[in-house]
Amino acid sequence: MKATALANSNIALVKYWGKRDERLILPNNSSISMTLDKLHTTTTIEFSDRYKEDSLKIDGRKVVDGEEFGRAVHQLNLVRKMSQSHLHARVESENNFPKAAGLASSASGFAALTLAATKALGLHLDKKELSVLARQGSGSACRSIYGGFAEWQMGTRPDGSDSYAKQIAPKEHWPELCMVVTVVTQEEKKIKSRPGMSQTVANSPLYKAWLETVEGDLEKVRAGILEKNFQLLGATAEVNALKMHATMHTATPHIIYWEPRTITLMKEVMRMREEGLEGYFTIDGGPQVKILCLEKDAKKIMKRAREVKGVQETMLCQAGEETKIIEKGLF
Ligand code: PMV
Repeated sequence: MKATALANSNIALVKYWGKRDERLILPNNSSISMTLDKLHTTTTIEFSDRYKEDSLKIDGRKVVDGEEFGRAVHQLNLVRKMSQSHLHARVESENNFPKAAGLASSASGFAALTLAATKALGLHLDKKELSVLARQGSGSACRSIYGGFAEWQMGTRPDGSDSYAKQIAPKEHWPELCMVVTVVTQEEKKIKSRPGMSQTVANSPLYKAWLETVEGDLEKVRAGILEKNFQLLGATAEVNALKMHATMHTATPHIIYWEPRTITLMKEVMRMREEGLEGYFTIDGGPQVKILCLEKDAKKIMKRAREVKGVQETMLCQAGEETKIIEKGLF
């Protein structure tokens, strides 16, 4: 009745932005991501009749109400329903990186919660079933079930049974590919992706163009990964991120996740490229800049990023492992 899971976060190279079904978390477009080896969430869950209610602790802080609590309980309810259990749970979760600051903590968080909860209640789900379930906690979580590179196929069925991720390539496929993750602020973002997305879908005049061009980006990024064509992958991922942000910038009211340091870093990546140091940036729902590069240039790129004023932290990541059960629990 107790299990601990470790899930790595993932960063999208073709972003998911906008839902066709808010309750089931069904996207308007497919997306592709790289699971990272250094940013993870560990979650221990115990179900027991000793517990009179669900309890949740994240990074040592008790969460007793609000959206975060509600979403975790919703996910527990989905798992309880599958295993016909009425037991309450004690959940403890720890991230090894700042939460809700655009480093995909909801992806690793819900992937870990989903696997730990299903294992604790004795369910043995395959990856597809786990991905469908994790998706209903946070869309991007469905990709973190897999290691290496994953594609979340949007699906067309109204019940979401065909909306889940599949692995494109394992982490061993391209060990030279790196992602330098920079942290420019540890602050939690003011607008979460959920309201951010619905605001954009509701009225950004550019949202239609996003949907019209995303299929082409998916093809290029898929080919870039499979053929290990770094230039194709990087250049497509960079423009894809800028297109997603352009849709938010043109929503009413608009959403701008970038800080001045975000832009300084973007410019620095462009300058490095002109000098022959090949890196490409991507940015999610937050101010942090992640730089795709090859191992041979990673140290130099990290150093240059660290020299940018205000950059607080840089982490060198490679493709990481799938979500898994581990022995050592948090309680
Ligand atoms: O799954 P969510 O609700 O955290 O949304 C993720 C949105 C982006 O990070 C901006 C893009 C993506 O595909 O991960």
